[in-house]
Parts: sequence; C-alpha cells; structure tokens
Amino acid sequence: MVKGYHFMGTGYGYGKVILFNEHFVVYGIPAIASAIDKKTIAEVKRCDGSESFIIHDNREATPGYKEEKLEQQRESVERIKKAMGIDECIEIWLHGDLRAASGIGASAASCAAIARAIADEFGMELSDERINEIAYEGEKAYHGNPSGIDNTCATFGGLVWFVKGKGMERIKIGEPVEIVMGDTGLVANTKKAVEGVRERKEKYKEKYERIFNEAEKLAYEARKAITEMNWEKVGELMNKNHELLQEIEVSCKELDLLVEIAREHGAYGAKMTGGGLGGYMVALTPGKELQEKVAKAIEKEGFYALRTRIGI
Ligand code: MEV
Repeated sequence: MVKGYHFMGTGYGYGKVILFNEHFVVYGIPAIASAIDKKTIAEVKRCDGSESFIIHDNREATPGYKEEKLEQQRESVERIKKAMGIDECIEIWLHGDLRAASGIGASAASCAAIARAIADEFGMELSDERINEIAYEGEKAYHGNPSGIDNTCATFGGLVWFVKGKGMERIKIGEPVEIVMGDTGLVANTKKAVEGVRERKEKYKEKYERIFNEAEKLAYEARKAITEMNWEKVGELMNKNHELLQEIEVSCKELDLLVEIAREHGAYGAKMTGGGLGGYMVALTPGKELQEKVAKAIEKEGFYALRTRIGI
C-alpha cells in the first residue's frame, strides 16, 4: 500500500442478544442486552456510477434472509447516506463473522458498520454517539420505530441496561459468561412483530398492562441478579421473561421447541430473543461444558447453534 493513499473506508458493528424485555422496551420499559463477539464489517469506496450505491452483501446468512430484507436494506442505506449528507455513488461490501439472521441484531450491526465505513472513506471524524444516531436512522427501514437498543449494542458493544429515549448504562460483570443462541432458521419481520404487539395492546388493555408491569419489575430483578453474577436467578428470570413474551404472542412453536431443548439439557434459563416470530432464542449456559452440551442438543435437532458469550 502506498503510504498516505486511502483505498477504501472500513467500519464494524457488533451483533447483539437481548436478555430481557425486547418489545416491552419499545414502550419505555427497561431492557438488558449484550453485544456478542461477532461483527459485521463494511467496506466503502466512492464510485462513478449514476446509481446511489452498489452493494455486495457477502455475509453468511440464514437461507432467504438477504432476499427478504433486500428492500429494507436499500431503504436503510439511503437513510444512512442522507443522514451523513452523502450524494455521491458509493460501493459497499459487507462481510464479517456475524451470520445474518433474525434476532441477532444483524441489521443494526450492518448500519453501524456502513456508517463507520462511509465516515472513514469520506474522512469524517465522527464520535460513537454520532455513529449511533446514524445507525438508528438506518434501522428505521427495518423496524419502523425502533427503540434504539439494537443500534446502541451494535455501536458501543458491552452489556447494557437500556431505556428508550434515555440511552444506555453499562452493566459490569467480573467475566464474560457463555450462552448458546439457537436459530429457528425462520426469517422474521420485526416491523410486523412490533405492529402486532401494538394492535393487541390496544385491544386487550388490562391484560397487557398487567404483563407490562411484570416485565418492568423483572428488569430490575434481572439487573440485580446479573450484577451479583447469580446465574441461577438470571436463568429463572429469563424463563419468566419468555412466558411474558409468549403471552404477548411474539414467540412461535419453533422458538418454544428450542427453548425446551435448551432447558432439558441443563441451561440455567432460555428465552426467545429479538423481534421473535422466528429468528433466534438464547440459552444461559455458564461454562464451556454446559455450553457445548446445549449447543449439541440444538444441532442434533437440525438447527444452527451459535456458541458465544455476554459481557465481553
Ligand atoms: C428487536 O431486536 C427488538 C424489538 O424490541 C424492537 C426494538 O426494540 O426496536 C422487538
């Protein structure tokens, strides 16, 4: 490489796992999430074409994911470009070790990565806070009215307590803990899942008020248990959280099956994670041995299992 010559801009965004209160978070209830040790990498280069951008999406993905998200991805890149004031044609490459699937923050990771890569290519010095705001703009194409939890994890990393409109606080734990994420292989539409909750919440006001109050209480208990690294308690609360998510009808039989398998094989707790109606579930499996046991059980049933950690 010639010294001082800039070939292309690069950027990254982390995948994430929501441990408590997806969906509830959209309504201001606190949620807890962690970045995982898998990233999407973006590379961006100016180009001469007449189109707004060209994208080469080389991420590994759940079959059907990229096709299903194509239109939302196009809108997302347009939103990111607009937020950054970029009119020129750009060429984008996406890759990295985060497998693109529903429920793992793949869209937010790509938004943060693209925003960082554009900033790098155009020589903009942007703070992480600004990257987060731009990624949030990009996320709107996938979520409609996102809470901001996914782009926050994608941009900053770490284990976080998140409240919509207020932002995040870091939760510190002594050392990272093993989890398994099981993929149903179903590509889900987060926008639709969020809209469904909104409709039912309007229709069944009292029922939803009770569930939402329980979710709020659970968040505080979970934060305390995580801080104390009381994993038995955290697992128990994850199980309760899954029940609440079932009650608001964002789980599905494939997610419930994976949750069951994980619990039967010794996971401290398991729940769906992210938008639901497909995508990923998460099982708390402290220690490599338990992690391997649960992951193998999920794989044995023909599903993809990701071994990763929270609190990295
Ligand atoms: C999606 O990863 C999380 C949801 O709570 C939506 C959001 O927070 O924007 C379902």
